Amino acid sequence: MSKFRIGLIGLGGMAGEHIRWMNAEGCFEVVAVSDVYEEALLRVGEQLGVAPDKRYTDYNLLIEDPAVDAVVSVTPNNVHAAIIHSCLQAGKPFMAEKPFTRVFEEAAPLLEAYERQPVPAMLAFTYRYTPAFRYARELVRDGKIGAVRSFSIQYLQGWGAASNNVPYIWRFNKDVTGTGTLGDLGSHMIDMARFLFGEFEELSAQLHTIIPERIDPASGNMVKIEVDDFASFQARMTGGVMGVFQTTRNAIGSGNQHEVSIYGDSGTLHASTLNPNEVSWIREEAPGQLAKLSVDVPEHCRVTQYANFKALLEGTIPDGIAGFMDGYRNQEILDAIVRASETKTTLRL
Ligand SMILES: NC(=O)c1ccc[n+]([C@@H]2O[C@H](COP(=O)([O-])OP(=O)(O)OC[C@H]3O[C@@H](n4cnc5c(N)ncnc54)[C@H](O)[C@@H]3O)[C@@H](O)[C@H]2O)c1
Repeated sequence: MSKFRIGLIGLGGMAGEHIRWMNAEGCFEVVAVSDVYEEALLRVGEQLGVAPDKRYTDYNLLIEDPAVDAVVSVTPNNVHAAIIHSCLQAGKPFMAEKPFTRVFEEAAPLLEAYERQPVPAMLAFTYRYTPAFRYARELVRDGKIGAVRSFSIQYLQGWGAASNNVPYIWRFNKDVTGTGTLGDLGSHMIDMARFLFGEFEELSAQLHTIIPERIDPASGNMVKIEVDDFASFQARMTGGVMGVFQTTRNAIGSGNQHEVSIYGDSGTLHASTLNPNEVSWIREEAPGQLAKLSVDVPEHCRVTQYANFKALLEGTIPDGIAGFMDGYRNQEILDAIVRASETKTTLRL
């Protein structure tokens, strides 16, 4: 079986996950790599057996390379828009990491380019592939908890907390990242709400910076932090479903805790990355008699991100895939959250 020939851009931490996922699928081969950091090019190029003339410091050369069938983009956020734009110009299918762009101003011209020349495109909203979330979506759609009235979503990590003394890395630099924990983890929560419940119609928000300055390892100076490290927002979704959201990277001991609780007329569901293979389901067994069940996720809800990418490259649009418009809309909502927080108003979307 011939494999999809992938060009991988950005060879840092998350690229390692993408390589692992591609290898597990067995139908992808990384034939070209790109990074601005020569050491990473050499290390990953050697690891994957990529020919030396296919190790590019300029990602445009990788995108234009006819030996590359599709691009996987895993760079910091300041390069997202330019890479997506180049892929659209070259007519090259791609999977791009979240958030879509840093700010909405970068996203708007991408939509024009996409409408001129649509190409198969996927956003790496990875939690669509957490089995418990996918099963919860099915239970909601099948009406198993009745009409959904409200939900809460949180996404907590702990690495940014004061006691960890994390220095001024790109994730705190507004020019590179756009927003802080909002774009980083909040983009996943926004996507999860859209995946499960439909569209955002109205929202209000509060962003906050817990740690006001961090040390720059290069200069040794303290740098003022201009992005959030706590974000909370609430939204009215399609059909009047009400949601509350919180995220921070300063919640000690959280690990990677992304979870959703869903409240319907006849039951409650709880799904979490801490327990990705089960859904907790509270339901009325008889009038006034509640049962709390831990239900194993069925096999058909174990879909992988790269199985969906393969299907996309083969010309089908799998159920539940995050496409170009999901990235674009996500960015629109991220920007509305920033605006709502700054103006202390409730915004209609
Ligand atoms: N989907 C998820 O669950 C998930 C998880 C973690 C990170 N991410 C996303 O993945 C992206 C990368 O995160 P990371 O943790 O791997 O960052 P990282 O800093 O570890 O790696 C980024 C790599 O990109 C390279 N790079 C920078 N500018 C470049 C350019 N112009 N051309 C080519 N390479 C360039 C850097 O040298 C570095 O090697 C971010 O957008 C992040 O939001 C997604």
